[in-house]
Order: sequence, then structure tokens, then C-alpha cells
Amino acid sequence: MLRTAVAAIAAVTACLVLLTPEAAPAAEGNGAAGRVLFIRQCGLCHSSRPGEVLTAPSLAGVVGRKAGSVKGFGYSPALRAWGRRWDAPLLDAYIANPGKAVPGTNMSFAGQPDPARRADLIAYLASLR
Ligand code: HEC
Repeated sequence: MLRTAVAAIAAVTACLVLLTPEAAPAAEGNGAAGRVLFIRQCGLCHSSRPGEVLTAPSLAGVVGRKAGSVKGFGYSPALRAWGRRWDAPLLDAYIANPGKAVPGTNMSFAGQPDPARRADLIAYLASLR
């Protein structure tokens, strides 16, 4: 009985977390367009497959993940110490200008200046499990 109640509360909480605006992509991003952008602009360094480390950590499951937390990847001290959990607004700022969002990060990516393209990328990232 108590266990059922706890499970029900957990399920409701999980739904609320999924429904909060912070957890949703910044704008109406298009995941299919984001996939093409990801392959061109991120895929050189990042894999979309879980656990596959290239020169950068896999981005599978990155939305909701604690920054700098993929085991076996040597992050910059800055990103490891940053202590935030990736959500759409934080990803948006990081993809726009990595060094401004997380001073000291060693992601050598110039930044994606177009908000619509960032929204597409984030929609794609949110679809990765
Ligand atoms: C030239 C290689 C390179 C490219 C291109 C690149 N990244 Fe990265 N990325 C990195 C590195 C290296 C790190 C780790 C940074 C650190 O430790 O400070 C990183 C970290 C990240 C993180 C944090 C991951 C975590 O586990 O906390 C995200 C999110 C991210 N990149 C997204 C992107 C996206 C989206 C693109 C494409 C628009 C992209 N990156 C393009 C090299 C790259």
C-alpha cells in the first residue's frame, strides 16, 4: 500500500519534471534538422551513441545530465567544477558561445549564432537516449 503510494508520487513527480518549461527545448526546434546540423557541426568530436567517447563525451542523454559527468572522459577542470545539470537554456547558451557560458571549457567550437539552429540542435539532443 505504502509502496504503491510512493510509486504513484514518484510517477507524478516524474511527469511534472517532464512538463516544466525548463525541461522543454528552448523554442519549437526541429529534431530532424537538428540531426543534420549535429552530424555536420558536432559529430566530428561527439557521438550520439551512449557511452561512445570520441575526442569529446557522447551526447546521448545529455539533456538532464550533470555537466562533466561522463565516466572515463577527461573534462576540463572548469566544466567538471561547474556543477549544473544540462537543460535547454543552459545548452542554448553553451552552444551559442561555449567559452562565455562556461569560462575555461576546452570545447573548441566557435559557437552557433542562429537561435533557430540551436533550437533544432537541442530538439535533436533531447531525442537522444
Ligand atoms: C572540436 C571538437 C568539438 C566540437 C566540434 C563540438 N564539441 Fe562539444 N565538447 C567538446 C569537448 C572537448 C567537450 C568537453 C569540454 C570540457 O571538458 O570543458 C565538449 C563538451 C560538450 C558538452 C558538455 C558535455 C557534458 O558531458 O557535460 C555539450 C553539451 C556539448 N559539448 C555540445 C556540443 C554541440 C551541441 C556541438 C555542435 C553544435 C559541439 N558540442 C561541438 C568538443 C567539441
